[in-house]
Amino acid sequence: MTSESYDFVVVSNRLPVDYEPDASGGAAWKPSPGGLVTALQPVMRAADGVWIGWAGKAGLDLEPLVADGMHLVPVPLSADEVELYYEGFSNDTLWPLYHDVIAQPRYHRVWWDSYVQVNRRFADAAAAAAAPDATVWVQDYQLQLVPGMLRERRPDLTIGFFNHIPFPPYGIYSQLPWRTQIVEGLLGADVIGFQRTADAGNFQRAVRRLLGYQTRQTEIHVPGDPPRTVIAKAYPISIDSASYEELARRDDIQARAREIRADLGNPKTIMLGVDRLDYTKGIGHRLKAFGELLEEGRVAVEDVVLVQVASPSRERVETYRQLRDEIELTVGRINGDHSTIGHQAINYLHHGYPRDEMVALYLAADVMLVTALRDGMNLVAKEYVASRHDDDGVLVLSEFAGAADELRNALLINPHDIDGLKSSIVQAVRMSTTERRRRMRALRRRVLERDVALWSSTFLGELEASRRR
Ligand code: G6P
Repeated sequence: MTSESYDFVVVSNRLPVDYEPDASGGAAWKPSPGGLVTALQPVMRAADGVWIGWAGKAGLDLEPLVADGMHLVPVPLSADEVELYYEGFSNDTLWPLYHDVIAQPRYHRVWWDSYVQVNRRFADAAAAAAAPDATVWVQDYQLQLVPGMLRERRPDLTIGFFNHIPFPPYGIYSQLPWRTQIVEGLLGADVIGFQRTADAGNFQRAVRRLLGYQTRQTEIHVPGDPPRTVIAKAYPISIDSASYEELARRDDIQARAREIRADLGNPKTIMLGVDRLDYTKGIGHRLKAFGELLEEGRVAVEDVVLVQVASPSRERVETYRQLRDEIELTVGRINGDHSTIGHQAINYLHHGYPRDEMVALYLAADVMLVTALRDGMNLVAKEYVASRHDDDGVLVLSEFAGAADELRNALLINPHDIDGLKSSIVQAVRMSTTERRRRMRALRRRVLERDVALWSSTFLGELEASRRR
């Protein structure tokens, strides 16, 4: 554990880099997956703080390090804890529960016990790294007990919490056997941030129903000695928009985009999906819609290709294994039925790619398909928009992604309505240049103005104001 102390501490389950031992027995660090890291990395690079989190492998006990200009403190997890706290309670209980029970959440008491134990370890690590009166910003559903645990140990700290995923309506949340403990854990924070106003409202309702505390607009009155006021409010997260635009303007990346188009046979339309391979992302719904359009002859395999990047995720959790099998079966069927020697219907890639390559793909794609069944925000939608400095490209966006609250000029769809989704895909493929530009310009204004720097400064500004309350 670090002996240094910091005025600004970020705590998240994952560090921005995963530890990958290489063949020669040496150490290598690889960027870690997901929207949380995408958003927080630029914030941490700009701040002189420390990031506390897990290095992505079981049984490692690593020393604090500096990577990419950031101070990192690894928190160890044993193989059992990876199974019970991470794969179990975080990703097989909370994840499906918070995403509207798209998959069935499983409730196991031993998973909960491990969640409590690991949250305590993260709280201890944060308490050890925080200077007197420091600001600690805890991230996401894996660590909801940390704010309460930290407040008990270190009442001098100012504590923020941000939930990157949705917070479910009370009718769903109330299934959780440990619903009261989680709400109490979160209320240890001074400011609790959510992606959407609806999420903040759901949380406040849970507080009223479970604890009977009074709420007024964004304030929650927590009785005690002294009584406290906790803020629960929406702060929609974003990306480092300018850096995506900058990459997209680079000659080598534009050349790579042309190369991708050529490798795909220069079709009239390239459609793109980019997701972690997760059941919340509606990949199956997207494939079904595309397959039916080919079947009905409303799009032709010679004209339209779908590139689906599905990066590996949580592969030891059974629901994710089943999903992979289902998706790969569907891709195989559609390709078998519709591909020709010269034209493949779906180009399926089960890999993660570096950011340069992603931006080239965004530039190459005429239509971006984001069909999530439920998603806290969906930063891929914002990345696509930020990359399109040419004001071209069409974003098809699920109304169940948090991004839909902001990106009103996308083609908004309900992914459960397969006929509606098919019509929107056809509309996107046929959209006139004038309409594409009008929509993309409006989307770009929004994404470039509301970037991740604004998100973090708004949240941290509110947290700072809470010191004076
Ligand atoms: C989402 C979550 C993050 C998580 C990421 C990747 O973006 O909000 O907390 O880190 O997915 O998932 P993983 O389980 O690989 O960390």
